Amino acid sequence: MIQLLTVVTRRQIASGATELVCRRPDATAIEPGRFMHLRVGPLLRRPISIANVEGDLITFLFKEIGQGTKELARLRAGDQIDALGPLGNGFPVKHVASDAKIVLVGGGIGVPPLYYTMRQLVERGISCEAILGFDTAESVFYEDEFRELGPTTVTTVDGTAGIQGFVTAALDSSRFDTLFACGPEPMLRSIQQIPIEHKFLSIENRMGCGIGACFACVCPTPDGHYVKTCSDGPVFRAEEVIL
Ligand SMILES: Cc1cc2nc3c(=O)[nH]c(=O)nc-3n(C[C@H](O)[C@H](O)[C@H](O)COP(=O)(O)OP(=O)(O)OC[C@H]3O[C@@H](n4cnc5c(N)ncnc54)[C@H](O)[C@@H]3O)c2cc1C
Ligand code: FES
Repeated sequence: MIQLLTVVTRRQIASGATELVCRRPDATAIEPGRFMHLRVGPLLRRPISIANVEGDLITFLFKEIGQGTKELARLRAGDQIDALGPLGNGFPVKHVASDAKIVLVGGGIGVPPLYYTMRQLVERGISCEAILGFDTAESVFYEDEFRELGPTTVTTVDGTAGIQGFVTAALDSSRFDTLFACGPEPMLRSIQQIPIEHKFLSIENRMGCGIGACFACVCPTPDGHYVKTCSDGPVFRAEEVIL
């Protein structure tokens, strides 16, 4: 499960946000919504979603938050990354009906897995729309890439790009029957309240081992149990988790 990835390109895609395209040792298929646990120090790994896969190339998009992501942003072409994965379950793209009306909703660092998810849906001939939320114009990334796949709306909290407000300001729930979302917990909590029949949320909480062994990532469920985000998720039905 551990593989060495080789950085092919690195570029800055927004203020404090980086795109890393890496070559992997094989070209096996990967379901969208899964992640890799990337080594950022002798003992530390950080979970980063798979933002795209094309043959043996794999793309990560990430925001520099702390030491680990700053290390990743310093990598250059030719450098190698020790990657554990792919991990987690991913969005149920193969199981949605071909006539489903799908909206993908991403907030900030939750946007990356939705790009590969939307690509896979479009490749299956399923039409879908994206709503991408950011803080401000400077932090917007991959807007053009999403637009190439289908209708895309951007929102910013300060109104410097797109619609002013949170992603929910741009979401007309009456037009959709299926929703895939990834983003900060407050965003996912408000999405839980939205009346759309099938809602799948990808949770990006803090992780330790990434493989179900340490309980760092547990999330409570309505029936009084816990799920592990890394190995039971990160994607859950909205009604399965308490955020
Ligand atoms: C399944 C999964 C997929 C992810 N995919 C992406 C991705 O594609 N792109 C991306 O940019 N990020 C992604 N993240 C979040 C990313 O893993 C964190 O930003 C990263 O671990 C921060 O590590 P760091 O060493 O840079 O910061 P740290 O030094 O560990 O933390 C810096 C500060 O940020 C806070 N923090 C760290 N991680 C989180 C978090 N997950 N949620 C809230 N606060 C946090 C810490 O409490 C601390 O205050 C994902 C997380 C998960 C669980
Ligand atoms: S991160 Fe260790 S159990 Fe999920």
